[in-house]
Amino acid sequence: PPAENMVMVQDFEDWAQKVLSETAWAYYRSAADEEMSEFLAALVDGARRFVLTMALVAFTENRDALRRYFFRPRILQKNSTEGITETTFMGIPTSVPIFISPAAMAKLGHPLGEVNLTKAAGECGIVQMVGASNSLETIVMLMKLIDISANASCGLEEMFEAKREDQSLIYQLYLNKDRAASETLIQKVEKLGAKAIVFTVDVMWQSKRTMDVRAKLPSPAEAAAAAAAPAPASVSHAISGYQDYNLTWSDLAFIRLLKKNTKLPIIVKGVQSVEDVQLCADHGVQGVILSNHGGRQADYSPAPIDILYEVRSLRPELFDKVEIMIDGGIRTGADAVKALALGAKAVGIGRPALYANGTHGEEGVKRVINIFQEEIASTMRNIGVSKIQDLKPEMVGPAGPWVG
Ligand code: FNR
Repeated sequence: PPAENMVMVQDFEDWAQKVLSETAWAYYRSAADEEMSEFLAALVDGARRFVLTMALVAFTENRDALRRYFFRPRILQKNSTEGITETTFMGIPTSVPIFISPAAMAKLGHPLGEVNLTKAAGECGIVQMVGASNSLETIVMLMKLIDISANASCGLEEMFEAKREDQSLIYQLYLNKDRAASETLIQKVEKLGAKAIVFTVDVMWQSKRTMDVRAKLPSPAEAAAAAAAPAPASVSHAISGYQDYNLTWSDLAFIRLLKKNTKLPIIVKGVQSVEDVQLCADHGVQGVILSNHGGRQADYSPAPIDILYEVRSLRPELFDKVEIMIDGGIRTGADAVKALALGAKAVGIGRPALYANGTHGEEGVKRVINIFQEEIASTMRNIGVSKIQDLKPEMVGPAGPWVG
């Protein structure tokens, strides 16, 4: 079906499962550890809607936790008709407070890859965070892979060339074991015109991406033919060889190094506790993204909306010290509005952009952003708000009887 006929963001995922290659589907959809046991698959297919109050695994919990927050709508509020979703975050204007989260390997889904995401983000006036895999060092790594196209990601230059003049891209960094390489890279992205650096910190070890690993297992015939061949690598393991997993808070010298060499604001991505939001603020970071990497790293890591609620409940003053964003499981405008009301400055989408790129290319990604825009505007109006800045924490709360 054409992209216009996709009614919900979820429709793209359903379609992607039908049309993507097994490698692409498994890599995109994959999450950590328990997510693909047969038991859970059956539970997810069957009875999950009856157990929404029970945490499953990080991947499903990201969505289920969002479903446990409900609105407290206000009535008879004056509605405005225009510009209702326009706002800014990290000093960047955006038509709607949705950004494309950094992700690897968009070419697994579509031959034009990440450039489609850049063009769609530009057309729609939103920010894209450009994944670390778009840097030369990772592309060289990809070229060593046996069964994945040598060029599964677009290069950084290609993406910056595809962007419109007034469009903002943010570069996502994985710290290289070779610090000099990271330093060179940061200087390069600053020259290219990136608006901020996102420093991803939730990959402290290579997780087991269960579906991705399974997809790379040889068939019995292949196994017999390649008796002494090395064990198959998942896509995620294959692209992450250069990353430094030995980072600590005391190693924040690197962030200071960043501050010395670049004026770009720093956003830490993968923060998962109120204590660490505080530490980020103490270390002079400008933004944090509450995220569990879409459930792909530590299984049973908390849902970002719950971390956000905890920060709101325990340390509301932190919202004035550091800009807080979230991503993970955001699939509807209502999801986004809940997070915005609790104090998020913007919310990120990961898989929805990859799926839509895989099924419909640039048109699909644009359609996803438009669906979010329409749903956010409609949700806001229906709870009595016509400006993003007027969304307030008291407009949302945990489901169930109000306790105060
Ligand atoms: C990711 N994510 C990610 N994050 C990051 O900081 N650097 C990266 O290279 C990647 N790569 C990546 C690949 C794929 C295929 C996925 C699905 C995700 C995590 C991403 O930025 C984001 O946090 C999650 O995708 C958000 O969850 P949803 O929207 O996919 O549910």
